[in-house]
Amino acid sequence: MQSIVKYKEQISAFIESISLDRSPKDLYDPISYILSLGGKQIRPVLTLMSAEVFGIEANKAIHAATAIELFHNFSLMHDDIMDDASLRRGNATVHEKWDVNTAILSGDAMLILAYQYFEEYEPETFRDLAKLFSKTAIEVCEGQQWDICFEKRNDVQIPEYLKMIEYKTAVLVGAALKMGAIVAKTSEKNANDIYDFGLNLGLAFQLQDDYLDAFGDEATFGKTIGGDILENKKTYLYLKALINGTAEQKQELTKYFSTTEGDEAAKIKRVKELFVETTSATDSQTLIKDYTEKALSILDGMDIPAEKKELLQVFSNELMNRRV
Ligand code: IPE
Ligand code: IPE
Ligand code: MG
Ligand code: MG
Ligand code: MG
Repeated sequence: MQSIVKYKEQISAFIESISLDRSPKDLYDPISYILSLGGKQIRPVLTLMSAEVFGIEANKAIHAATAIELFHNFSLMHDDIMDDASLRRGNATVHEKWDVNTAILSGDAMLILAYQYFEEYEPETFRDLAKLFSKTAIEVCEGQQWDICFEKRNDVQIPEYLKMIEYKTAVLVGAALKMGAIVAKTSEKNANDIYDFGLNLGLAFQLQDDYLDAFGDEATFGKTIGGDILENKKTYLYLKALINGTAEQKQELTKYFSTTEGDEAAKIKRVKELFVETTSATDSQTLIKDYTEKALSILDGMDIPAEKKELLQVFSNELMNRRV
């Protein structure tokens, strides 16, 4: 196995080599732009790592890894429109820098470019990758729509939230790992186990993203802090605060989350205080730990050499403690 940094260098170099100097410029420039902002590239790194875990060279999975990262960037371009976000990876979002129509079509084009990378594989692998990809992509759409529907609902329950983040985020992390398994042609059991490992890691990942959206540092996190609060996102922080809070705290929270009008800074400040006072902030950290441990226990039960598990263990722990 290589180091995590090496996998990241490998995928970064490949993505940088994609030629997007084509016309019309307003279709391709936003794709170059969002890709040039980099990001953590955790999903393609997982695809490469998974390929090596199951005994092939990481490079054999580079096209599948690229497809996953292009799909992810497509979803971000559209997500930023849907969430009315102005900052991505510390820079202006595509619909702010260009406009909404440009971000819609460039996003669509990126999704199609993603699919094209599967053409690099022979028919059987191509079929399995495309099948998993399509299933995952439709689930991401379902998750994204739940997320938007929940903004306007005041009766969202924690199990619904968990299903929503499973679909919008966790399935892609699972799929990234399973693609490495598919390219390596490992057993179905291994492929399914590594998917489940990723699914739990992905749940922890989105919970941490929601936590950092409220409690992170804008310069490090690269997104506007408090964006989810302003959009009335029904995160675990919010839902658990409603469960833990006193009648007064609940009333205050529901009032804030029933409108998008009013003093934005005051709303962010007070809602964060309520997340702390009701301990939903610390509860969310506990849940992140639980899902990470669940992921690690699945990994632990897998019939693969200990040294191959080790890098995935390190990666999982780093993800749980991230600030980026
Ligand atoms: C952001 O994903 C969207 C979520 C699913 C939370 P990342 O945090 O992986 O974003 P980048 O690619 O590193 O910018
Ligand atoms: C995004 O969730 C999930 C997808 C893009 C599919 P978020 O809306 O929380 O992601 P960020 O915080 O904007 O990166
Ligand atoms: Mg969103
Ligand atoms: Mg968003
Ligand atoms: Mg977020």
